[in-house]
Amino acid sequence: MLGATGATGLQIVTQALERAHEVTAFVRDPDKLAISDRRLRVVTGNILDNARAVAEAVRGQDAVISALGVGNSRKSFNIISRSMRAIVPAMESHGVRRLIFVSAFGVGETRRDVPLVPRIVQRLLLADVFADKKASEDDLRRSGLDWTLVYPVILTNGPRTAKYLVGERLDLHGLPKISRADVADFVLSQLEDATYLRKGVLISD
Ligand SMILES: NC(=O)c1ccc[n+]([C@@H]2O[C@H](COP(=O)([O-])OP(=O)(O)OC[C@H]3O[C@@H](n4cnc5c(N)ncnc54)[C@H](OP(=O)(O)O)[C@@H]3O)[C@@H](O)[C@H]2O)c1
Repeated sequence: MLGATGATGLQIVTQALERAHEVTAFVRDPDKLAISDRRLRVVTGNILDNARAVAEAVRGQDAVISALGVGNSRKSFNIISRSMRAIVPAMESHGVRRLIFVSAFGVGETRRDVPLVPRIVQRLLLADVFADKKASEDDLRRSGLDWTLVYPVILTNGPRTAKYLVGERLDLHGLPKISRADVADFVLSQLEDATYLRKGVLISD
């Protein structure tokens, strides 16, 4: 689990443990991961400059999940594309094929379905962050991995409802939202579901 200390990452780790998965969390600061569980292993490192730690985290996993992000920053610092250049080779060299990667609705071709108001906001505030995500996804799509790109609409800290819309395209209006808990629910469901293998999937409430 990459980005395990983030708001969505914490939801994914918590729900994965509830589902009795063995979880390896790759984190910069273990103190931010306020979860302890006998099924949770923590590997400390920075994904940008710690290839050995990334390899250690990836080795032997059935799947890798990423909820990496830059928080509220409007600057990407190319973190996601640089991360992808670490993740894909680490997975390929250790024979780990399944990658579920949390992106954002509005990146790449998903932009065509973004309603007017969020589209304007994204163009004004998120151009650099979204360009970085798009570059990372171009690399991922060229890889031989079994990837799924998950494109959530605006994230909230609301509860898990397990009732949401998913699809390669969705007819959305206004300011669609989805809770991080429901994103986690869907992401984890994809570990046992090939419907969106080598595809992007939107998720909204
Ligand atoms: N906010 C929205 O409405 C929205 C909508 C759609 C999609 N998204 C996307 O959904 C994803 C999750 O969002 P979120 O708000 O839940 O995430 P977040 O709270 O910003 O968490 C980002 C995670 O990435 C980690 N990270 C960043 N740089 C790292 C590095 N160099 N090495 C290791 N870890 C690193 C952070 O670690 P630290 O804890 O150490 O900082 C944190 O765990 C993001 O990709 C975001 O762009 C967001």
